[in-house]
Amino acid sequence: MGCLVSILPVLEFPDPQLRKVAKKVVHVDNKIKTTVDDMFETMYEAHGVGLAAIQVNIQLQIIVIDVSEEKNERLCFINPEIISEFGQEESDEGCLSVPGIFEPIERAEKITVKSLNRDGDEFVIEADGLLAVCIQHEIDHLKGKLFVDYLSPLKRQRIKKKMLKLHKRDQ
Ligand code: NI
Repeated sequence: MGCLVSILPVLEFPDPQLRKVAKKVVHVDNKIKTTVDDMFETMYEAHGVGLAAIQVNIQLQIIVIDVSEEKNERLCFINPEIISEFGQEESDEGCLSVPGIFEPIERAEKITVKSLNRDGDEFVIEADGLLAVCIQHEIDHLKGKLFVDYLSPLKRQRIKKKMLKLHKRDQ
């Protein structure tokens, strides 16, 4: 039954666990690969384009992304590091941990990222457009940072109230 994957619960803002800082993965072993596969399944199930391990309460530097239309271009980043960035661009962002909220956020337009893949091999990728936004958004998660942190305190407070109301209703 080793091929079965699990859908993991996604933490929602303002859960304090989302503020934890992720540690580097030391060995990309089978347990890490299972986590990666579970994260992909969880992301696809929630119709997201990216997910960071912090969001499923795992404090490791693991990110999964798929920005393709067909949902068949899996990108896994383990211990990712932005090694260069260029330009600035604003685009609407959302987050599986802040459902229903979309706000314009300014990010670097182009980035170069060094990372390990699901096999533990190092790779370097240049990204722009949605992929660049997504990688920067997910790397923020690994530092305990959320996209709402870029908004004004008033706006963030409003979103927090909205989320708490939603969580109360769901109980
Ligand atoms: Ni997010």
